[in-house]
Formats: sequence, structure tokens, C-alpha cells
Amino acid sequence: MSDDELIGLAREVKENAHAPYSGFRVGAALLAGDGRVFTGVNVENASIGLSVCAERNAIARAVADGVTDFVRLAIVTDSTDEPTMPCGVCRQVIWEFARELPIIVESKPGARVHTTIAELFPRPFTSYKR
Ligand code: THU
Repeated sequence: MSDDELIGLAREVKENAHAPYSGFRVGAALLAGDGRVFTGVNVENASIGLSVCAERNAIARAVADGVTDFVRLAIVTDSTDEPTMPCGVCRQVIWEFARELPIIVESKPGARVHTTIAELFPRPFTSYKR
């Protein structure tokens, strides 16, 4: 699957975000090693601190289906001039499953950044041996 296709899926699912409080919608599309794509959106709550990011919701869907082998993550946010990088909590959760994962982030069409979890999260919390 091409970067454009994965970004396209993240852009499409972003429309389903539940973000009435921030008005900032995020869509994520996570490509697994077996070719399947797991999507996620941010789901906010009136009790604001309960809001969950799109990236973590995509990971949760994959893990629930028994998939933890991830090869690429696309994230699309509502229009900001610069692409919006995943939050610190999501970086820790991504790192749990993928140490070198390529990540593509786009805001308005074409405003795209290519990075990796290794670049975004160089010094993880890792107290347990796995
Ligand atoms: N959000 C995400 O979905 N992913 C991130 O990595 C950062 C923030 C969501 C959470 C909240 O619903 C909205 O964006 C504004 O913070």
C-alpha cells in the first residue's frame, strides 16, 4: 500500500472523529505486516480528560484483533499549516509495539512530514524487559 493510499484512509476516517469540544479531528491508519489496515479517530468526552487520541484507538483495534506487527502509520489532522505530530502519550504507546515504525503525518493535503517513532521518541520509558 502506498503512502498516498494510507494517508487517504486516515483522511477518510477523520470524518468520523468525535471531537465536539476541541473541534480538532484526527484520523489514523495503521498498516499491519499482514496487509490489513486498522483505523482510529479521536474520541472526546464531556469529561475532557477522558478523550482518547486517534493513534491509540487504531492500535487498540489492531491489538483486539490479535495484531501487533505494524509497518507504517499515517495520521491526518484537521487543517493546520504544519502537520501535527503525535502527542507524548501516543508516542509511548506506539513505541510499545514498534521501535522503528515509519510515521507519515499530514494536515492540509500535501503538508506532509515523514518521520519514525525512533526519531519522535528517542528516550522511552522502559522499565520492563521484554
Ligand atoms: N489528538 C489526537 O487524536 N492525537 C494526538 O496525537 C494529539 C491529539 C486529539 C485529542 C483531542 O481530541 C484533540 O486531538 C485535541 O487535542
